[in-house]
Amino acid sequence: MDFFNYRQNRLFAEDIALSEIAAEFGTPCYVYSRATLERHWRAFDDAFNAYPHLICYAVKANSNLAILNLFARLGSGFDIVSLGEMQRVLAAGGKPEKIVFSGVGKREDEIRAALQAGIRCFNVEVAGELDRINRLAQELGVVAPVSFRVNPDVDAKTHPYISTGLKENKFGIAIEQAIHEYRRAAQLPYIEVIGIDCHIGSQLTETRPFLDALDRVLALVDQLQAEGIRLRHLDLGGGLGIRYRDEEPPLPSDYVSAILQRLGQRDFEIMLEPGRAIVGNAGILLTRVEYLKPTSEKNFAIVDAAMNDLVRPSLYGAWQDIIAVDTNSCAESLTWDIVGPVCETGDFLGKGRELKILPGDLLAVRSAGAYGFTMSSNYNSRPRPAEVMVDGDSVHLIRARESLEQLWAGEQLLP
Ligand code: LLP
Repeated sequence: MDFFNYRQNRLFAEDIALSEIAAEFGTPCYVYSRATLERHWRAFDDAFNAYPHLICYAVKANSNLAILNLFARLGSGFDIVSLGEMQRVLAAGGKPEKIVFSGVGKREDEIRAALQAGIRCFNVEVAGELDRINRLAQELGVVAPVSFRVNPDVDAKTHPYISTGLKENKFGIAIEQAIHEYRRAAQLPYIEVIGIDCHIGSQLTETRPFLDALDRVLALVDQLQAEGIRLRHLDLGGGLGIRYRDEEPPLPSDYVSAILQRLGQRDFEIMLEPGRAIVGNAGILLTRVEYLKPTSEKNFAIVDAAMNDLVRPSLYGAWQDIIAVDTNSCAESLTWDIVGPVCETGDFLGKGRELKILPGDLLAVRSAGAYGFTMSSNYNSRPRPAEVMVDGDSVHLIRARESLEQLWAGEQLLP
């Protein structure tokens, strides 16, 4: 459930009409709902009841400081994949001891900074990373908390670009090699092994692949325990899907109770790294129709948002709902391809959409809160859109629209 609903034919975000937001902040513009963000975060947190757990929100899904700050206020942890994401979390008031650091290519400066900040855990994905962390921890005179991200070789049954838990993917340490790395880590003086981690992909709409992965991870955990390597936490990554169209993903509560059931008597702290399931349906991209261009082949609605603002449709062929902000239009209902101004045939937000629209009308691209702004670019020298957050009957600018000067800030002419 989210808080983007029609009231008398006008689309609202909580108690604010989206047409008012467009008038005040311009378009294209990302609009988020605070109530939806908090509701979705709590759906994960509450599902655990008293069971020890930490929700580590995956920053890559949406890294706006205001959003990170809302989650930090709720007591959230954070899953980061770069130094930039760590600094965002800290700038937003997140606690270092609630940060886990994932990613296959952690640089030395990133590891050093994370050790200095005192993060909760490194999710190690490459054998060489373990030695690098051990050496840097020695240099800094600290002991590094680590877990291994294992690759359980499970088919997540999702888009191949966002499937990560198969042998052929670059992520994690093959589950059959992991035991060797755990033994090695147990001998390293500046490493403390505290957990195990896996993340098999994103936009999963069934529980089964998660449970298959968990079974494999638990088999390894039991084997480690028999060797005297005791782990404190189990991090199951993110990946729970959302409804874009007609998907019916499990609710966080069903997903969590299935996990807890599988654990039996084992007493671990459970960590999850959800991104999309928390922020995806808490945001929309607001855009205005610039021109209508009916041709003999197709009807094109050219809008002011483009693939640089929201790349998911172009990159993955992702389907996101596109709805009129005012449904009281006298226009006739026609089928439109919703396209942007960027000079690429792949620049579309949606194809074959039945809409009643006229030039100047506003459209909302739904489910744009995750991997929307964070994957935006300046392609075609387009300043990135504004981001606003609605909170009941008030609205706050949480990122100003980029200025033209910002496009070339940092660039230099030759002498
Ligand atoms: N943890 C790790 C280690 C990850 O790699 C990811 C996502 C997450 C957590 C969060 O996954 P989520 O709960 O959001 O599914 N850009 C793509 C999605 C890429 C996901 C990458 N990793 C998209 O727009 O569909």
